[in-house]
Amino acid sequence: MPRTVIYPGSFDPITNGHVDLIRRACSLFDTVVVSALNNSRKKYAFSLKERLGLLRAVLKPFPQVEVDSFSGLLVDYLRAKKASVVLRGLRAVSDLEYEFQMASMNRSLWPRMETVFLMPEERYVYTSSTMVREIASMGGDLSAHVPAQVLHALKKKFR
Ligand code: PNS
Repeated sequence: MPRTVIYPGSFDPITNGHVDLIRRACSLFDTVVVSALNNSRKKYAFSLKERLGLLRAVLKPFPQVEVDSFSGLLVDYLRAKKASVVLRGLRAVSDLEYEFQMASMNRSLWPRMETVFLMPEERYVYTSSTMVREIASMGGDLSAHVPAQVLHALKKKFR
């Protein structure tokens, strides 16, 4: 049976840490659906259109990857996609509490679903979209943390 994993996130913007995780997922699953959350109550630096554009540009070299978006509950989206496995990254122990809570809540909403965790390469352990946005707004060098297309988009957004 072909195996699909859904990688949900804000991707505001996608970082090298996300790409590293997606590369790993491609060796484990047939299809990796990278899906950006569209939460109307949340303020993003990049609009959904911009986030999807960056995801598509950065993930073009990965034929197994499908870029998508969702709103509402993740479990409802999973059922609509006929998928039951979710991918999340664990960078450090500090991620664990939030991820454990989210995976447990999701499983209580839909017991059939599973969350699998992958660890990024060590050099991305401290990379986060939040820090990327903050550093970009202050003109810092992010070339080690984000793909070239994102670097360009950040420079345009925060110039
Ligand atoms: O990149 P992020 O912001 O850590 O991703 C969080 C995300 C999008 C995976 C999470 O907020 C989510 O799944 N939201 C959808 C709403 C939902 O299902 N909430 C209940 C699970 S806690």
